[in-house]
Amino acid sequence: MCSGSHVVILLVKKYPHYKIVNLDKLDYCSSLKNLEAVAGYPNYTFVKVRTGALAGLRVVLRACVRALMAAATIAPIGSPRSCRAPSRRRTS
Ligand SMILES: NC(=O)c1ccc[n+]([C@@H]2O[C@H](COP(=O)([O-])OP(=O)(O)OC[C@H]3O[C@@H](n4cnc5c(N)ncnc54)[C@H](O)[C@@H]3O)[C@@H](O)[C@H]2O)c1
Repeated sequence: MCSGSHVVILLVKKYPHYKIVNLDKLDYCSSLKNLEAVAGYPNYTFVKVRTGALAGLRVVLRACVRALMAAATIAPIGSPRSCRAPSRRRTS
């Protein structure tokens, strides 16, 4: 991990309220040394995955995104779950 590790470090430090999960198969050229800077952060987790595991994960994430989009679309306009901006109310 090279530029990938820089992105992970940036996300972990900049967004402490987000949980950052780093999935990697740890190829022969990979090194976790690049991620020592965030190893102890409570919002950072490293998970070693098998080759091919990301394809399955992609399917799950797509389904989650579809479910979130559907939930946001059917929420009443102006409700906290709605994606759309609330329409302006006339005061007069
Ligand atoms: N290095 C650059 O200058 C640069 C520039 C632009 C974009 N990118 C992109 O950023 C990403 C990361 O770049 P990098 O330099 O950190 O690459 P890298 O080769 O140093 O690290 C890639 C990591 O991905 C892991 N990996 C590969 N296939 C996997 C799989 N199927 N499942 C799980 N883990 C897998 C490897 O084990 C490795 O640790 C790449 O997609 C690259 O194309 C890199």
